[in-house]
Order: sequence, then structure tokens, then C-alpha cells
Amino acid sequence: MAGPRCVASALRLRAAGRSGLALLLQQRSPGSASPARRWQAAYSSGRPKTVEINGKTYPTDPWFNVPSSVLSLTSRKLHLQKDHPVSITRKIIESVFPASTYRYYNTFDPVVSTYENFDSLGFPPDHPGRARTDTYYINESTLLRTHTSAHEAELFRSNPTGGYLISADVYRRDEIDRSHYPVFHQMEGARYWDRSKVPHGDLAAAVLEDLGRLPRHDMTVQDPSPPFHAERNPLQPHHGPAEAEAVGAHLKRSLELMVHEIFTRARKAAVLAEGAAPQDKPLEVRWVEAYFPFTSPSWELEVHYQGDWLEILGCGVSQQSLHIHAGKPDQVGWAFGIGLERVAMLLFQIPDIRLFWSQDERFLSQFRGVEDHLDRLRPFEPFSKHPPCYKDVSFWLGSSSAAGGGLGGAADWHDNDLMEVVRDAAGDCVEDVQLVDRFTHPKTGRKSLCYRINYRSLERTLTNAETNEMHQRVVDGLVKRFGVEIR
Ligand code: PHE
Repeated sequence: MAGPRCVASALRLRAAGRSGLALLLQQRSPGSASPARRWQAAYSSGRPKTVEINGKTYPTDPWFNVPSSVLSLTSRKLHLQKDHPVSITRKIIESVFPASTYRYYNTFDPVVSTYENFDSLGFPPDHPGRARTDTYYINESTLLRTHTSAHEAELFRSNPTGGYLISADVYRRDEIDRSHYPVFHQMEGARYWDRSKVPHGDLAAAVLEDLGRLPRHDMTVQDPSPPFHAERNPLQPHHGPAEAEAVGAHLKRSLELMVHEIFTRARKAAVLAEGAAPQDKPLEVRWVEAYFPFTSPSWELEVHYQGDWLEILGCGVSQQSLHIHAGKPDQVGWAFGIGLERVAMLLFQIPDIRLFWSQDERFLSQFRGVEDHLDRLRPFEPFSKHPPCYKDVSFWLGSSSAAGGGLGGAADWHDNDLMEVVRDAAGDCVEDVQLVDRFTHPKTGRKSLCYRINYRSLERTLTNAETNEMHQRVVDGLVKRFGVEIR
């Protein structure tokens, strides 16, 4: 159904070494030996005393690590920009969750407390997700949310209906390639029932009745694991087995229906665009056990798409402690989170995540009118493919003569340090950065790294002179901020 472009992007999502949303938070490498020292050195000269984000002013402190390029994206709100593919994707997902039950929250501010983003959700104090190498901090207790779950605890307390949907921009320091960008969008949903309000206090029966009212679908669903598992995916002490099983079943059907809607639309669009024969093979999805600090049991949902299993969402039965802390101990239910760009890349066959930030008419005009008429959805047609330009940068870590006073030592180094220097120096003109060589000197024990940077603009052909200039800025930035020694 879809062209090779899409296969490439699908493979890329996988090849990026991310097994998905769920793991993004868990698999982060632990913070390095002295990140505070490093960030102090990197920002001490230029750190502003305060920053303004969406009209509010926040004091910074030595934890501050948000580059101005990222700060400037906090006002873009692509999920609310009419006819932007991120907003269209949000609308498609909203169409599956009726507003009478699921209240929509689309305007939460991206600046949250460490309490909201981590503690309220049960993240342990030493969880790698908190590392400054991975998260953008305004100050020690304030950050740019890394996921929409940051609003769960508050909504469990204040949302007046039995469920909600949030859409929002989220921020993670990350590598540079065609499926990762420091800002992306997530949607989060939850549904819960109140034991004190359901007939006869029989929560499981009420949930199953609601499940019975949900439509059916024709997807092939692989769900080999049990509803919960004592070691791998435990039932919570607050929940009876029948309750957890009913909530899990409602969760799974609801999310399957969402995925069905998305992929049916993706297939239709591709057929319309390419005149291909409609696929009569039903879509195939599978449930995989997962772990999140704020749900148990937990799962990820994978979709069989163009020959590959793509993980597209994380979910589970909400930890009862969240409802209890919210002052609603009788609420029991489920929650999920999904990355919108990843879905939009599949829906529209968008090959590079940087395109979402493009203000180029050749990009934006392709989606006009779709938000109000979803049947007009068509795959994106690339307007150009400009030539790549590869440049390597090799350097020794841990030079003692460094400007940063010896920072950039092997123990301190994190790939994301380089990624940030590259983004600062070259913005969206870099498609991809790869570590191509790592070497330890046999005598001195010093470590050397070589990264290959692919300079390629989505919008125009870069001149040699400007590529050289950008590369020089990368080199200078590395020396200045991390005191590395260029080879
Ligand atoms: N917040 C999780 C993530 O970003 C996804 C999630 C949301 C998982 C809600 C479970 C429940 O990886």
C-alpha cells in the first residue's frame, strides 16, 4: 500500500534502537559522574537569571540546561495548529474517545515541577529519567515535562468526568536522527470508575458492561500473556483479580479501537494516493508486557506495519496510590500514552521528524482542509531531496588544558552533550549524528571519539561554505563547552 519511503521510516523507528515509548523513560543511561559540574561549566557564562516561557517568568539556577533553540519551541504548540499533521492526528485520536466521558485538555503549560513529572508518579529518586543528560531543567525543582503523565495526579483529583485525554508538547534531550527531536507531542488518556458509585459496588461488572458497549473491530490481536503475572506484571493489592481483568480488557479494546481508526485511515490515504488495491488482510497488533512506575499491570501495543512490529503506545492499570493521593481512593481505572509524531509519520508517510517544525508552505499547504474533513487525508509528498554532506569530528576526551577546567573527561561524557552542541550550531540543518569510532589509547588510557554528522536541509541545498561554517561552530562549541581536544 505505501511506498518505500514509509518502509524506510518504519525501519528507522526501529533501527533507532528505541523499543518505544515505555522504554524511553526506563532505558535512559544513568547520569554521568558529575553532571552538575559539567552543566555549570557549560552554562555559567551564558546562563540567564530568569527565563520567560509562555508569558511566565522562572528563575534559573545551576541546574538550568535548556538551550534557547528549545526554549523558542515552547510557544509553537503544533498540536493546536489547525491542519498541522500533529493536530490532525490529535483529532483522529479524539474522535475515538467521546468528549462526554473523556474530557479534553489541550492547553497545559509545559513547565512542571519535578514532583509532577516524577515524584507524583512514583519514580524513585535515582531513576535515570531524572538525569540532566536526558531532561531539560529550568532549575532544580522545575523542568520541561518529559511526558504528559506529569498531569495525571492533578487530573485524577480535579477532572469531573470518568476520563480524560491530554495532548501536549513534551521535551527530552536526545540523539539526532530522523525520528528523534528534543520536542515532540504526546497524547495521554485515562478512564476510571468509582467503586462507591457503580451499581452494588460491583466495579468489575460496571466495567464489563461498558466494555460491552464498545464497538468491535476486525483486527487480529495477539495477546499471549495473562491479565497479570505475580512477578512480571503484578496485580495491585488494592485490586481484586476480576477488577484488574475487567479494567485491562476495557483498556485493551479501547486502545485497539484507537489504533484501528489510525491505521484504517493510513491505509485509505495510501490507496487514494497511489491507486493501489485496498488491502484485505486485517491489521495485526500484539500486546507486550511492560513496566511503568505508575501502572501495574502494564503493556505496550505493537502494530504490524509494512513487515515490521512497531511499538506505538504504553499503558496499564493506574497505580492505586495515585487515586488515593488525589483524594479519590474509590477510583479504579487505566491510562495510556502515545507519541503523536510517530503516529503522524506513519499516517502521512512523513520521512523526517524535523519536517513537523517546518514553516515552509510546501509542507504546510499539503494538509490544509484535512482537519475538518479527515477523509481528505493523503500521504505527504516530499517536495525535494537535497544532497547530504557528511563531516566527521574526532576528539580526545579529558584534556587537562581545557577551557572547562578538565571537563569533558571520559566519565563525564554523554552523547547528548554533542547533540546539543550540534543543534545549537546547526539547528535543523542536521539530519543525523552517529558515533562512528571509539578508541582508547593503549598507553595513556585517553579516550577518543569520532562522530559523523550528516548536514542536510529539508528545505534547500546547503552551500559548501555554510556547511563548513556550521561544522566549525560544532568544533568550537565542543572545545569551549567541554574542553575536548580536537584530533
Ligand atoms: N508516560 C509514558 C511514557 O512517556 C507512557 C504511559 C502513559 C504509560 C500512561 C502508561 C500510562 O513513556
